[in-house]
Amino acid sequence: MSIGYRAVQWNRDKLRYDGILIVAVSLYIAGYAAIHWTLEAPKNLPAEVDLWIRAFGSCAFLMLTVVLSIGPLARLDRRFLPLLYNRRHFGVLTFLVAATHFWFMLDWYLVQHALPNLLTELTKWTDYTKFIGFPFKAIGITALLILFLMASTSHDFWLTFLTPRIWKALHMAIYVAYGLVVIHVSLGIMQNDDTIAVPVMLVGGFGTVVVLHLVAGWRECGPDKGAAVLDDGWIAVGPPRSIPDKGARIVAAPGSERIAVFRDGEQIGALTNLCAHQNGPIGEGHIVDGCVTCPWHGYQYRLEDGCAPPPFTEKLATYRVRINRGIVEVDPRPLPPGTPAAIKCSPETM
Ligand code: HEM
Ligand code: FES
Repeated sequence: MSIGYRAVQWNRDKLRYDGILIVAVSLYIAGYAAIHWTLEAPKNLPAEVDLWIRAFGSCAFLMLTVVLSIGPLARLDRRFLPLLYNRRHFGVLTFLVAATHFWFMLDWYLVQHALPNLLTELTKWTDYTKFIGFPFKAIGITALLILFLMASTSHDFWLTFLTPRIWKALHMAIYVAYGLVVIHVSLGIMQNDDTIAVPVMLVGGFGTVVVLHLVAGWRECGPDKGAAVLDDGWIAVGPPRSIPDKGARIVAAPGSERIAVFRDGEQIGALTNLCAHQNGPIGEGHIVDGCVTCPWHGYQYRLEDGCAPPPFTEKLATYRVRINRGIVEVDPRPLPPGTPAAIKCSPETM
């Protein structure tokens, strides 16, 4: 972790981020209601509740789309990195908006004194074999439960308790939730709504997420494919100056983890590309105040041994490096986290 960075406590940046989020969500909901009310005022109480169901449902879908787009956008263009910071609060707010959508749906039954009908709908097992008439609310409930699981384990306590690898794998379930929401809307409202707005929102949102992930994935294939593996298993990275000063080049032997090879002036060192905090891409960060700094939330590590500066205790796996005929080479077999492995180049080899 970095010395001057408070990752868990509230700070001004987090408050500003959350403030902007809450204002944007409020503006969307108020705008949605105002536009629909002006176009066609609800004729009765259930129709009014339905308006709120749709306002909160579409808001949650759009928020999920943005949450899933932030990762690839930040990889494609560093200017989106500030959006990554505090992305967990974005996720928790998305759950709260989706839960409000669910609450209004319950209210829709309640105002008509028909709540038991919901249970009947959900337990009419023959409907689960139909395409038209499928109980799409059951899919919505499953998606909401996944969002609840993720929101309730979003705190750093769970990250430490579960380990970053398991925590990250668990939070990948957001893609399952997103897929379920797409099905929920396609099998539900789209079947009996003849406006173009819902299909446009669905196809536009889903298409954006898919395209951004494909483009970011394709851009990232480059470093992996380009690494030349030598006879002794080491990987050729390139001349020392091909590594940007205070930056890194990311390499990987086929089938092995990515390695971030950093240069700090004449010092060269290699660390795993996975940050100990949330597996962020260390190699996309820079050396700040003499420490490798993760681009996601600012955790810092010493280049020489992969250890966070005191009083922090996180350690990254390091890799052996050498200079062979003017070319930096790295051994892709990881050393135990915290093992000193960086080297100093002489001015002639630079
Ligand atoms: C992750 C959770 C969920 C998300 C993101 C979500 C999203 C959406 C979206 C985008 C719509 C279409 C809104 C529009 O017409 O503009 C919708 C409709 C609807 N959703 Fe959900 N939903 C979720 C969970 C649920 C749950 C748990 C239920 C109920 C058990 C539910 C019940 C409904 C109903 C009844 C409609 C249709 C409203 C109408 O007929 O006007 N949803 N949802
Ligand atoms: S600081 Fe959070 S992933 Fe690196």
